[in-house]
Amino acid sequence: MTRDEAARRLLAGDVVAIPTETVYGLAADATNAAAVARIYAAKGRPDFNPLISHIAAPTQLAGLTLPDSRADRLAAAFWPGPLTLVLPRAPNCPVVAAVSAGLDSLAVRIPSHPLARELLAMVGRPVAAPSANRSGHVSPTTPQHVLASLGPDMPVLDGGPCQVGLESTVVGLTGPQPLLLRPGGIAVETIEAVLGERLGHPQDAKLQSPGMLLKHYAPALPLRLDATAPLPGLREGLLSFGPVPAGFAAQYSLSASGDAAEAAANLYAGLHALDRTDLQGIAVAPIPEAGLGAAINDRLRRAARGR
Ligand code: TXA
Ligand code: MG
Repeated sequence: MTRDEAARRLLAGDVVAIPTETVYGLAADATNAAAVARIYAAKGRPDFNPLISHIAAPTQLAGLTLPDSRADRLAAAFWPGPLTLVLPRAPNCPVVAAVSAGLDSLAVRIPSHPLARELLAMVGRPVAAPSANRSGHVSPTTPQHVLASLGPDMPVLDGGPCQVGLESTVVGLTGPQPLLLRPGGIAVETIEAVLGERLGHPQDAKLQSPGMLLKHYAPALPLRLDATAPLPGLREGLLSFGPVPAGFAAQYSLSASGDAAEAAANLYAGLHALDRTDLQGIAVAPIPEAGLGAAINDRLRRAARGR
């Protein structure tokens, strides 16, 4: 599918899978209730889990959400890029209520992938897009991952492998203190440096970001975290970080040099690659929490817990 064809389909109310720098998204016109319903149906996504609206330029934000000086600073620093801002909806916000799952807030971001930006500019409307996978499964970072999860008939705009590889960081700006609703492609420390204050961690995650309660990012095989050596008698594939210990049945390197950004870009491809029927489990090497390591470990813990 070409970019022009993707734009035509979006304007006609269809869903299409599109590349972003984080993961592939399952896109639909965010101002069209029937189109948004198709996203939830295609993913098998529970309707209490709100979606992110993607826009082409910061000027589009004004009609969607209430003004906020913290949002302006974060947008200037990180857009286009893997940061999502959750803000109170503007009174005449054209995005349908289902995108917000009935909440009075809206999540918005400008992706940096060039094809995504061209497409969003052509469509000229906010585009809702969750990750393009069945709800609860591993997120897609290639067109092949999308087709494997959503079926061979899903139209996909091919933008190559995703460069960041982890979903956007979600920051909540609906109250006096900015909140980290989901760690992601921009490190928390980097965001806090621009804000000049610490991000709060929501106590009531259910009210703040319903999606964070769900099982997520789970491969079919069991995951064993912080693995430093093989377990006798178990055919495990290892997701390695840094030097590779001997004795695992299979191995996929997240980053040979121990670089967290490189590991983030390879994480979902690695989970997809080792989720093999000839293995009994996936072991994951320890990954330090600093920088993008926090977001990688968040996804791995959810994947391990999700089964
Ligand atoms: O990188 C990304 O963010 C990708 C690409 C496609 O842009 N999208 C993505 O969407 O990860 P999704 O639907 O898988 O995750 C959206 C997250 C969920 O945790 C959801 O609960 C949260 O954002 N969210 C969306 N709207 C919200 C709102 N109004 N209030 C609080 N959390 C919200
Ligand atoms: Mg997702």
